[in-house]
Parts: sequence; structure tokens; C-alpha cells
Amino acid sequence: MKFTAGKFPIVKKQNIAKNIYDFTILCPDVVKIAKPGQFVHIKADGFMLRRPISICKIDKEKGTLRIVFEIRGDGTDKIASLNVGENIDMIAPLGNGFTMLDKSKTVVCIGGGIGVPPMLEVASHYGENGIAITGFRSIVNAILTDDFKNQQNEVVVCTDDGSMGQKGLVTAPLEQILKTKKIDMICACGPTPMLKGIAKLADQYNVPCEISLEERMACGVGACLGCACKIIKDGVEYNKHVCKDGPVFNSKEVVL
Ligand code: FES
Repeated sequence: MKFTAGKFPIVKKQNIAKNIYDFTILCPDVVKIAKPGQFVHIKADGFMLRRPISICKIDKEKGTLRIVFEIRGDGTDKIASLNVGENIDMIAPLGNGFTMLDKSKTVVCIGGGIGVPPMLEVASHYGENGIAITGFRSIVNAILTDDFKNQQNEVVVCTDDGSMGQKGLVTAPLEQILKTKKIDMICACGPTPMLKGIAKLADQYNVPCEISLEERMACGVGACLGCACKIIKDGVEYNKHVCKDGPVFNSKEVVL
């Protein structure tokens, strides 16, 4: 696995929703090798364990990475307190990303909540052939809608309370799309019940599907067994590491 460790300057910081931060980090060496669906592992000052955060956008020209993350505890709170001009301590890129098909293919990219950010870079590859379905609890939690639109993706937003877009789960518009269009692949990231529903539909409509698992991680490089998940291949069950073997897996193989 090829990765870089170091301290990299934050060049842009935005608070884009309640407790959700958007950082742009200048790290040309990481950007050169980063792929959609990989993650970065960040050390917060004063904390032992690093925090895994998925890559949201890769800007090869500017040599910058964008990460969008939610404050979920003291560690991520500390990371969110960093400001433009300060350095972020990062090991990156880590893990295996999504399989990227030819740009002419039609791919549905689905994100739920804080699982939406990694789908932005995947969907950008497909431009107008990329269909983004994003799901949030409510309008106040909705993020990145304009970013998907600005990269020519068709965007369907769903909220649990109907305060923005369609009311209900992301699986409803997904099924509608699968019924009416030829879809070459589905890529998804979000909570496990959402991923289960998507995997079931992908199976039913016989469309290849890759899902990114959100898992608590410790070392991030396959050395601690802190992120075990189960895979079934040809009827045999294997233990895998989300950090090293994933976080992206074939939805037919992973046990959710
Ligand atoms: Fe240590 Fe995956 S986080 S093995």
C-alpha cells in the first residue's frame, strides 16, 4: 500500500452544516496517488488514535484534497478547531477505493448523511452520466447538493421529514431509476440499513454494486484487527479488515 505521512497546511475551512466541516488541504504528494473512496487518517493533537475521514474531492491541478467530516466526539472536535494556515497531521491515502468505470457509463452514486462526501469525487468522474442520490434526516443536515449539480450530475435529494426533496429513503428513487434506465454500476456509502437496502435492490436488478463501510478504526493500516468485517466468497466466510481490504467492498461479498 502506497501512502504518505506528514503535516499538511489547511488552505480553506468552512462550516457547511451543524457540526459538519469542510477542509481543503494542500498535499500534492497525496493527491498524486489518491483515488475516489480512499480515506485519510488524521491525528488530533493530544489524542492517541487517529480518525479516519473519507476523501471528498481530489484536485490534481491544485494539489489539494477536500475532506468533509462531522464532529462526533472530542477528537473530531479538536480537528474541527484547526484553522486555515495551520497544519493537519495526516497519513494518506489509505484503503481501497471504488472501481471506476469508463466516463461514458451510467453510475448511480448514493450517500446517506456523512456518507455523502466520498460520493462527490466518484460522481464527478461520470459528470452528466452520474446520478447522485443523497439522503439526510432533514434540510438542516443536507450537504453538497450544489457541488453535485456543479459537476453536471443529476441529483435526487431525500430527507426523512420531507423538508427537502423527496420524503423517505434513498432506495425509493433508486428503484425508480433501476426500473427505467440501464445502470452500469451503483456506488454507495452510508449507514448499514441503507447499504442493506441498496445491496438488495442491486441484486434484484442484477446491477454491480460497491459499498463503502463506515467503521471505527484504530491503526488504519491492517495491524490491529480493530475494524474486522466478514466477507463471503464462493460460499466461504473470511475475516477482512475494513481499513486495508476496504473500505469499499463488492455488495455481493460483504456480510452487512
Ligand atoms: Fe487496525 Fe484496521 S484499523 S486493522
